[in-house]
Amino acid sequence: MVRTIGVFDSGVGGLSVLQHIREALPEANLIYVADSGHVPYGGRSAVFIEARAMALTRFLLSQGAEAIVIACNTATAAAALPLRKQFSKIPFIGMEPAIKPAVAATKSNVVGVLATVGTLESARFAALLDKYGGKVKIVTQGCPGLVELVERGDLHSAEARRLVERYTAPLLEKGADTFILGCTHYPFLAPLIREVVGEEISLIDTGAAVARELKRRVDTELPPRVKLGVVGSETFHTSGAAERATLTMGQLWGKDVVVEVLPQAYS
Ligand code: DGL
Repeated sequence: MVRTIGVFDSGVGGLSVLQHIREALPEANLIYVADSGHVPYGGRSAVFIEARAMALTRFLLSQGAEAIVIACNTATAAAALPLRKQFSKIPFIGMEPAIKPAVAATKSNVVGVLATVGTLESARFAALLDKYGGKVKIVTQGCPGLVELVERGDLHSAEARRLVERYTAPLLEKGADTFILGCTHYPFLAPLIREVVGEEISLIDTGAAVARELKRRVDTELPPRVKLGVVGSETFHTSGAAERATLTMGQLWGKDVVVEVLPQAYS
């Protein structure tokens, strides 16, 4: 049996995490679900997101997933606790804005957080600030519209630039020298963000740290699997339109992909 890992996000953003998971676990089969039929999660209620997270988890388990990465900051904030309670034998690895490393990195003592409104308003985020914020000033900025850009594969248009300028300007004005990309869609906009804010600003994302944590938990908590020297596969699913998903996911993943539509029972 091959190691099988399930990964889900509100849409295609979690592919930025999947890239790191592929590097950390080259032999594992990876099953990715984009909940693009319900994206964005950012303005949705926690109750709605929790119900979606439960459905997507049930689908991933039905496909043989042994551990699940919640490749979405917003879904982690809304649903990590109930998921862990409901599926107590399954390791869940969630995502949070990287406050701790950003606080360690800032020289101006001002950190900017770009994230969804749902993440920024969550109790989990407030607890994170209490725990790691310390004396550093944390300036937050909700970014409605950025997720939708990435869902369309629009990483560089004039409209994308306008939105990125609008959301980064207040953080720059307040003196932030370190920006946290607190949503898994945003790493795909990092080249544009870099162009807008310049070379002096540090951009921090948690994809690599999450992949390392996944590997640690897989190695310590799951039964070993025989490695036959095979390279793991990736399978892609969406609750949205297959044609759009095939285009955007192929673009973001960097090669052609076949995207299957999620069965009705999980949509
Ligand atoms: N990728 C999700 C996150 O990390 C985006 C949430 C949304 O759909 O608004 O928060």
